[in-house]
Amino acid sequence: MTPPHVRDSVELSDYQAVRDDTERLAAPLSAEDQMIQSMPDVSPTKWHRAHITWFFETFLLVPNLPGYEVFDAEFGYFFNSYYETVGERQPRHERGFLSRPSNDQVTAYRAHVDEAMVRLIDTGVGDRRDLADLVRLGLHHEQQHQELLLMDIKHVLSKNAFRPAYHPRPDMASTPPGPHNWVEFDGGLIDIGYEGNDFHFDNEGPRHSVYMQPFEVADRLVTCGDWLQFMADGGYHEPIHWLSEGWATITRENWDAPMYWEPSETGWMVQTLHGLQPVDPNEPVAHISYYEADAYARWAGARLPTEFEWEHAAVDVELTGNLASSSVLHPLTVQSPSNGTPRQMIGDLWEWTSSSYAPYPGFETAPGAVGEYNGKFMVNQYVLRGGCCATPPGHIRATYRNFFPAHSRWMFSGLRLAR
Ligand SMILES: [Fe+2]
Repeated sequence: MTPPHVRDSVELSDYQAVRDDTERLAAPLSAEDQMIQSMPDVSPTKWHRAHITWFFETFLLVPNLPGYEVFDAEFGYFFNSYYETVGERQPRHERGFLSRPSNDQVTAYRAHVDEAMVRLIDTGVGDRRDLADLVRLGLHHEQQHQELLLMDIKHVLSKNAFRPAYHPRPDMASTPPGPHNWVEFDGGLIDIGYEGNDFHFDNEGPRHSVYMQPFEVADRLVTCGDWLQFMADGGYHEPIHWLSEGWATITRENWDAPMYWEPSETGWMVQTLHGLQPVDPNEPVAHISYYEADAYARWAGARLPTEFEWEHAAVDVELTGNLASSSVLHPLTVQSPSNGTPRQMIGDLWEWTSSSYAPYPGFETAPGAVGEYNGKFMVNQYVLRGGCCATPPGHIRATYRNFFPAHSRWMFSGLRLAR
């Protein structure tokens, strides 16, 4: 039997659309903006653009396209992120030192790889089902980096005294969301994890049963207004609310508000991708660490949901919301009236859960370098669910597991209460 052709499952137009999206996101940035690494967790835009290209070159073109010539043999060192099996690399916290290659060379690299990927997708060789799966992984990998690119550039611009905007503030209706309501779920033995034949990451399976007690989740995200009450009640100054590591962190870092908030004569301001703006109490509170989310929940007499509760609560929600396609790139006030179901599950902000990022029962890493994609990060991180305002549409599922260390807060993170 003839193996299925790559083209049967990956359209050239799918490939081109994702690659074009990356360039569209980078387009508002100057060449200088694209070079900057404002802190160790941030990667320069130029590095993102090159690294996702290196992924296609390294894992698809070199092993599978006869006669393919690498664009530049040194790029493997510059643009390998964390693949030990592939070789040495530029230290992550020193990506900002890569003043060479230039943006133009990275653009030429992207064109070189795109031309070869078109040939591969058109005329592919070898085990084509494997190739199709790898092309899809490369495209979803690129979408992950599109989201990171926006989170990273937000940080870069926040460090610029001119406080430039990535793009002008769009019209954003702001209405008070009202108090949250609780949505009840029966407990029991509930199936968790991906089931189906569409793309999903390896960490979303295997599907398995989890026993849950009956629980409730809030029908909206916690807002800046809610957070201001926590702050006014001395939330950041009362150790009783905090995990020991959290208290040590806020004390050491002098945190007394979410990241990007700063006091002004007229009240709290917040750096956004639209520049510095007044804090809107109706909006979901963003850029909080796990420690802060946990402390707030305890102060509010509630807790964070487990990732299993979150997934069970999201199982019937539509995979639409304030994603990158809305072009707002900022969390929005809740858009629909309370109707007895959880709102804002998809988009707006990645929601912290109380679950450690761990393998599901029976999880196995794939053989080879791509086995390094997810599994090796399953320690000292927490799971976040639901995507955010920088997530590309089509890149989120109820089963999607994002993960960050407890102190991280430069990403679009928020919280929803549970009890
Ligand atoms: Fe990557």
